[in-house]
Amino acid sequence: MLPHKRTGCGYLWSVWLLVCVFERCVDAYPTGAPSSVCVSMLPNHGVGPQSTGSPFNLTVNASTYRHGELITVYIGSSETYRGILLQARSADSSAAVGSWINLPSHFQTLKCGTEASALTHSSARDRGGGKDVFTWRPPNTGAPQVLRFWATVVKDEDTFWTEIKSSALHLDASESSPNGSDPTGGSSGSGGAAGSKDHLAGCVSVIVTAMCVWLAACV
Ligand SMILES: *[C@@H]1O[C@H](CO)[C@@H](O)[C@H](O)[C@H]1NC(C)=O
Ligand SMILES: *[C@@H]1O[C@H](CO)[C@@H](O)[C@H](O)[C@H]1NC(C)=O
Ligand SMILES: *[C@@H]1O[C@H](CO)[C@@H](O)[C@H](O)[C@H]1NC(C)=O
Repeated sequence: MLPHKRTGCGYLWSVWLLVCVFERCVDAYPTGAPSSVCVSMLPNHGVGPQSTGSPFNLTVNASTYRHGELITVYIGSSETYRGILLQARSADSSAAVGSWINLPSHFQTLKCGTEASALTHSSARDRGGGKDVFTWRPPNTGAPQVLRFWATVVKDEDTFWTEIKSSALHLDASESSPNGSDPTGGSSGSGGAAGSKDHLAGCVSVIVTAMCVWLAACV
């Protein structure tokens, strides 16, 4: 009875080790950043950000913005990256403003305060090399006087840069269309996808926790 039980525990131990090694090998957030990092914008890797200059930069297609007009944001680099968290922030707050629409594939929006106010990856893969173009829509109300786009870019598990900022965009007070005709359409689908991803991540952590409890009961 007892030897048989030991074998069972050994098997469980191997499976658990495999899960842990696998989780360590892949990106900490293979399916995108969770909302818990909305403010810090830091991946939970156990290592700090790179202190050398970032090979990634954020470029925008305007120096002013106004209600109802979209802004294009580019990740400039010849290098590939695996993960990203991207937000527009006013000069005096860590709150994400506006929303991301027309996402390229393998990206999703994240609710950081308001719906779709952050953008992150949705799968573990190398991407970039100057090909990703993101589209941001200003908020309908409460647009800050000055904002910048902020990004954290993860190259691989031990290498990431944070507080990558675009040049400043100033609110154009001579708003041509103060009342946009588009409330918040276009992002609801992505929001739903992000929700199910959160749910999946929750399930995985419950399973891993259950296995650990099971294992602890064995030894
Ligand atoms: C920036 O890009 C957006 C989206 O393509 C476009 O609608 C907008 O007119 C562009 N702005 C400028 C100043 O070129
Ligand atoms: C941003 O990165 C691209 C690609 O590496 C580079 O061509 C461009 O000059 C950079 N822009 C700035 C402002 O550093
Ligand atoms: C939007 O503004 C225009 C004039 O700027 C006005 O004629 C129109 O009634 C407004 N629409 C709404 C929904 O408030």
